[in-house]
Amino acid sequence: MHTRPTSRRHSLSHPLRAAMLPLTAAILTLSAGGAFAQQAPLKPSGKWTALTRGHAPLPPMGWSSWNAFLIDLSEDKVLDSAKVIVDSGLAKAGYIYINVDDGWWAKRDTATGRMVVNTKLFPSAAIAGGGNSFKPFADRIKSMGLKPGIYSDLGHNSCSQQGNSPEDIARVPKGTLDELAIGLRDNVERDIALYMGEWGFDYIKVDACGVAAYGPESKAVKERGYRMVEPWIDPVSPLRTDIKRVRSGYEQVGAALEKVRPANDFTFSICVWGDADVRNWGQHVGNVVRTSADIAPWWGRMLHTFDSASHRALYARPGSWNDPDMLFIGHGEFDENNLTKARTHFALWAIINAPLIIGQDLRKAPASLLDIYRNADIVALNQDKAGNAGVIAFDSHDIQIIVKQLADPGKKGVVIVNRTGTELTADLLASHLKLGADAPVQLRDLWSKQSSSFTGATTFKLKPHESLVFEASGKRELADGLYLSEMPGRLHVANDGVLQPQADPTIYRSINVWSGTKSGGERPQYLGWGGAQADMTPYDGSLQINGKGYRSGIGILAGSRMEVANRGQYGLFKAAVGVDDATRNTRDTVVFEVYGDGRLLAKSKPLRWGQPAASLQAKVDGVKVVELIARQQGSSGGAGNLVVTWGEAALTGAVR
Ligand code: GLA
Repeated sequence: MHTRPTSRRHSLSHPLRAAMLPLTAAILTLSAGGAFAQQAPLKPSGKWTALTRGHAPLPPMGWSSWNAFLIDLSEDKVLDSAKVIVDSGLAKAGYIYINVDDGWWAKRDTATGRMVVNTKLFPSAAIAGGGNSFKPFADRIKSMGLKPGIYSDLGHNSCSQQGNSPEDIARVPKGTLDELAIGLRDNVERDIALYMGEWGFDYIKVDACGVAAYGPESKAVKERGYRMVEPWIDPVSPLRTDIKRVRSGYEQVGAALEKVRPANDFTFSICVWGDADVRNWGQHVGNVVRTSADIAPWWGRMLHTFDSASHRALYARPGSWNDPDMLFIGHGEFDENNLTKARTHFALWAIINAPLIIGQDLRKAPASLLDIYRNADIVALNQDKAGNAGVIAFDSHDIQIIVKQLADPGKKGVVIVNRTGTELTADLLASHLKLGADAPVQLRDLWSKQSSSFTGATTFKLKPHESLVFEASGKRELADGLYLSEMPGRLHVANDGVLQPQADPTIYRSINVWSGTKSGGERPQYLGWGGAQADMTPYDGSLQINGKGYRSGIGILAGSRMEVANRGQYGLFKAAVGVDDATRNTRDTVVFEVYGDGRLLAKSKPLRWGQPAASLQAKVDGVKVVELIARQQGSSGGAGNLVVTWGEAALTGAVR
């Protein structure tokens, strides 16, 4: 485990600022070992066990106050934006959530424990006779055919209460220690009942600054009377984070939401910035899971938050989506003078099934930007009902090709992006799309609406920062089925075999945007290395068993279990399975097992590194859930993770 000198101190501003304080030895031991180091039992569940709590069958779409106004909020500003959403056709296009972010409260009423809305910002919360309620505002949003969203924090305090700037310090309501404790900590059930029950909000974002940034060194604690919370999260040394505690904090919120809204008609957004190993557990708890620290309105930062989500395609599916943060179109490098970059930002979010949450002051939005949000074809790409996140078919720092299987088995979405400031060419191959090279591929450009076709390969010139977005159709490589890597929306990685969470070295790391270069040079990391991947190994390599490469397949560690929703649709499962050549553990063996609704259907012999792939087939006619278990045999004795490949894993046979 990587340890840091305990004498080091940072003076960050905004989220996570105090989170790098040395944690206690107790937390250290707990998080690095304990439950997370134990191998979960690999029993077939016999059913689909992915998250069904909450409402997010497709990536949520809407608007949030944060990128538009920060905490310089007002009821008029929010309602005016909501009005533009309706009047400009955006509501009809699917943007229905109107989310009030940080900064809406006055205090917690210490006599009753009830949260009080800041009526200077939201005058409608002042009820005749001295009452206070957010319900009139929420009702107003609903009367416009929209859904209201609210914001809170897992701890006692929010991100803005830290005081990002002198203006913020002046703006944030003052009060006693208890009045300032506006977060969910110690108040989960009460606050959730108020927000999502009595007031009737439909969406809640729960931030985590309250358990990350109010340590003993925090200025808010030392100088402005906020309650000290020994940080649970350390973004610099992720293994010093108390992962279990963060997860159970969010689980408690989920349980309270379920209790207050048994009809399951709420959306729960977890904002823990990719920290606390949320890649692993977020999919089981929240409907929206933030994968990085905050986005900012410039190119590099946008790519950074995109990258934090785009390598996690198998961790997104109907019910829970990766969230690279809210859109920043309309600001800085994504404003109306930078339409190429703004379009690319939008296209990238659309293809990886990110929530499309607008973050600009819509009162000032020119038609050129509204036209980006309401491009019906690109919205449809994001909202395709199969819920398959796009998978990276070609990866480089310069050009990426991201391909998304649509619900119509004959159709694909594809984004080709030039990440650089230089004009580049890119070859699109039929094989990137998993379409036959011997038949024409039809392309429809979703910006220009022009159609074209090619056979085998075609070449595009891309302007600096340009992306091309197409719907593609052609002759499928698998005429009567799909590779599992084409159906992330139907694949649930129930257990990815990761025993010891590790920082991901491939994702460009970035410090919190609010701290700037004054921060002391810390290098936050994201846990998530070694998770299941589509068409690559858990460590981002090409799939290969005993010298034979596989362009399609699932890469995962042994000790893993996946559920695939066959829904009685396909008749046959097949794969070429084996230990991947990339493994560092060349000693241990693995047995691959295929179950159908809990019954063992097929099993490989024990396989070891250097042995050719075994072919595995199982009839899955009528089966609802196919389960794929890779069971490691013997003790690794320090030989490390066993990397395994389900090569060309596919469901084929009569499509009903
Ligand atoms: C954090 C979150 C942001 C926003 C702000 C509010 O930085 O990551 O999305 O909610 O807090 O202060």
